[in-house]
Amino acid sequence: MTTETSLHGSLAVPGDKSISHRALIFSALCKGRVTITGLSPAEDCQSSAHCMTALGLTITPDANEAGRLTVDSPGLDALTAPKSVLDAGNSGTTIRVMSGLVAGRPFISKFDGDQSLRKRPMSRVLDLLAQMGATVSFEAKQGCAPFSVTGTQLTGKHFDLPVASAQVQTALLLAGLQAEGSTVVSLPQIARDHTLRMFRHMGVPFAEPSANSVRVEKLQKMLDGFSIDVPADISSAAFFMVGAACLKDSDITLKNCGVNPGRTLVIDVLQRMGANIEILNAREVSGEPVADIRVRYAGRLQGTTIFGDEVASGVDEIPILSIAGALCEGQFVVEGAGELRHKESDRLTAITTNLRNIGADVQDSEDGFTLKGQAKLPGNCEWATHLDHRLAMTGLIVNLICPGGVRLQETDSIKISYPTFQQDLDQLTRQLV
Ligand code: S3P
Repeated sequence: MTTETSLHGSLAVPGDKSISHRALIFSALCKGRVTITGLSPAEDCQSSAHCMTALGLTITPDANEAGRLTVDSPGLDALTAPKSVLDAGNSGTTIRVMSGLVAGRPFISKFDGDQSLRKRPMSRVLDLLAQMGATVSFEAKQGCAPFSVTGTQLTGKHFDLPVASAQVQTALLLAGLQAEGSTVVSLPQIARDHTLRMFRHMGVPFAEPSANSVRVEKLQKMLDGFSIDVPADISSAAFFMVGAACLKDSDITLKNCGVNPGRTLVIDVLQRMGANIEILNAREVSGEPVADIRVRYAGRLQGTTIFGDEVASGVDEIPILSIAGALCEGQFVVEGAGELRHKESDRLTAITTNLRNIGADVQDSEDGFTLKGQAKLPGNCEWATHLDHRLAMTGLIVNLICPGGVRLQETDSIKISYPTFQQDLDQLTRQLV
């Protein structure tokens, strides 16, 4: 609630959500034991864990080390029909990626989710699984959860995806690993490649016939168990990165953070805006690039444009990046970001409405927005979260930046990705005198 706040110190944010989902779900490709360390405590990942348990995996958390667990998998052929609805909660990754897994299994899986997930588009993956041979039926609204997938012997296909969605790509590759003939999935641009890195780490064979294109064949034998260490989540670290770049005198280091090239838009954009960011101790852990990221306040940021062909590498970070944009010198433009309308809320409308309320100069477009930067954003208003975790965390950073603060509708949604966000923010926050 004051401009005289800065962020200081070092912190490892919780494990990466995307990698955690994949570690849990890909365990089904093994016959044996998978050991995971650093698993995300996000409620979304618990949704994946519950659904995988319903298919016959045994997941045992380590009583002495948070984020460490073993997954005992009977192998793909021994997965069992779920006895009840697979409840994906709020998690788009769980429902879409798992649809691809069960599309090749000879049983019926019924999926559902919360009110937000029920509104999100599922045809982008289910129509393609149907082309491979699965039967999909929607229970209430066409293209939305709840729906059921009747698995079968799939046939491989070639797909040129119109949207660079890592979730859809991953679902199709999991289906392809069970299909007769080859399956090729091409993306229109770079997206997170956690799936391919984990495939390599676990020994799943695949080929890359051209840039952003992957081919898989039917898996000939179950893989052995493996161990994986999940790095910290750059999408969670992004809130503190933007906070430190905007709050005077800040100096923070985010330890052990994943820096997958399909996720680093937040670093690229802040650097283009003139932020002081150092990538330290770069290394590889379980096939993923990892580093410590130091961010120091370096004065007012400059304007920039986020172009459509780079959106996929920071699709979840655009809400928090827009705060840096609203405070920049010059203009901050976001183009080609229509995908934001299909996330946990319509994030384009939500962010531009909130920004206008806190005093920013915003112009909306169909698939983005333009901000004329200002030195100060007054705030002293409500901040609507739409029960969307990333909007809530953005609001808590805005609360430190605006002299008048903001009043969040709720913060409970934050547990979807980062249950200890408020404690970690408090740990880094220092009042300047
Ligand atoms: C994710 C991919 C992204 C992202 C989501 C997680 C993943 O979705 O928004 O939070 O783990 O593959 P899309 O692939 O649909 O863009």
